[in-house]
Amino acid sequence: PKITFVQPDDSRQTIEVNDGATVMLSAVSNDIRGIVAECGGSAMCATCHVYVDPEYVTRIPPVSEVENEMLASAASERRENSRLSCQLVMGNGVEELVVRIPPRQV
Ligand code: FES
Repeated sequence: PKITFVQPDDSRQTIEVNDGATVMLSAVSNDIRGIVAECGGSAMCATCHVYVDPEYVTRIPPVSEVENEMLASAASERRENSRLSCQLVMGNGVEELVVRIPPRQV
């Protein structure tokens, strides 16, 4: 699968990842700026907030209850397409994703 990260300044980076990789871990291991991920992927911090490109929103599983609660405390504005990137798993039908990094995570 392929993930494209769009920075607040509109610069883009596309990376290839393995099936089962989360968007958060893929970002961290590829030195993508702007994903803090303080809690390490437990849906407990909301510092891995991303905006999923509207084109892809319906292609990924919906927000869980825990994710929904955490997103309420995200540092940047929450939008309809806000997600926690640690809860987004690539593969299993999700072969491509474009996500925008919010202006700040803390
Ligand atoms: Fe903490 Fe995603 S890394 S909520």
